[in-house]
Amino acid sequence: MWFGAGLLAFGVAGAVEMPPSPRSGFEDMSRETQAMQRDDTTNPGMLWVSDGEALWTKKAGLGRSCADCHGDARTSMRGVAARYPAYAPEQDRPVDLEGRINLCRETRQNATPFPRESRELLALTAYVGFQSRGLPIAPDPDPRLEPFRARGEALFRQRQGQLNFSCAQCHDDNAGRRLGSAIIPQGHPTGYPLYRLEWQSLGSLQRRFRNCLIGVRAEPYASGSPESVDLELYLMSRAQGLPVETPAVRP
Ligand code: HEC
Ligand code: HEC
Repeated sequence: MWFGAGLLAFGVAGAVEMPPSPRSGFEDMSRETQAMQRDDTTNPGMLWVSDGEALWTKKAGLGRSCADCHGDARTSMRGVAARYPAYAPEQDRPVDLEGRINLCRETRQNATPFPRESRELLALTAYVGFQSRGLPIAPDPDPRLEPFRARGEALFRQRQGQLNFSCAQCHDDNAGRRLGSAIIPQGHPTGYPLYRLEWQSLGSLQRRFRNCLIGVRAEPYASGSPESVDLELYLMSRAQGLPVETPAVRP
């Protein structure tokens, strides 16, 4: 859609500005879409949250459920999503929330990991994410994460694709301007996994990255790849302090 002939006509270029204070994509949405997100009875993402709640107590593999080890998610998982990706000693690198859940599937439950973007993994991630709704994003300060975060920032600033565009050129330099029918948001990952009206489904942050990368005609990162986790790590620091919205709604 926004990669048609008119692309990169961002409107009048302004003077060089200071980086704006972080602003959620929620602020750029229509009132109707905001209302849909706010009201749990109309927010379609809540269907995945309740599926996730059912999966939380379902036994798998060796016969243990998430709840058998973690108890009530409302307390044990509160704040967890607000500080992910986190350092995983098993892998000596950061994992995103999906990766963490699959590590528990594999190593604690002895069950097969869920495929990325599967209904089950989205549901469990939405359920865990939901326990942090309203809490400020507070990245993990573990110093071992620093090189990965720096790599994520480099990816954010690197030009890519046939259109030779960086994430920063849209989400830092041109945020708030229109690109086709869309308003370019600052690109904060506050609400994932989230329900996109365009997808008619819940989807992960990685799926969102894929849309933007295809938009500039670049090769998308594989879901769960080191590049996408490093990028998420940087984006979460950039979004520090904004409230978690999971499950958000976006156009
Ligand atoms: C046999 C016990 C066990 C089961 C079953 C289990 N976990 Fe875990 N989980 C752990 C332990 C122990 C840790 C923390 C230590 C570590 O890093 O492995 C953990 C860590 C986590 C974390 C990260 C918490 C944090 O503060 O960073 C999440 C999220 C999580 N588990 C989700 C799940 C989900 C979802 C399931 C079900 C699909 C599940 N776990 C099943 C034992 C379990
Ligand atoms: C050519 C401009 C452009 C580039 C380059 C671009 N994006 Fe986007 N991005 C958009 C637009 C426009 C949207 C709003 C959704 C839409 O309608 O497509 C968006 C949405 C997003 C969102 C969703 C924010 C929310 O509120 O959920 C994230 C995250 C994001 N982009 C990250 C990235 C990353 C990371 C890169 C680089 C790999 C990137 N974008 C490159 C234009 C761009």
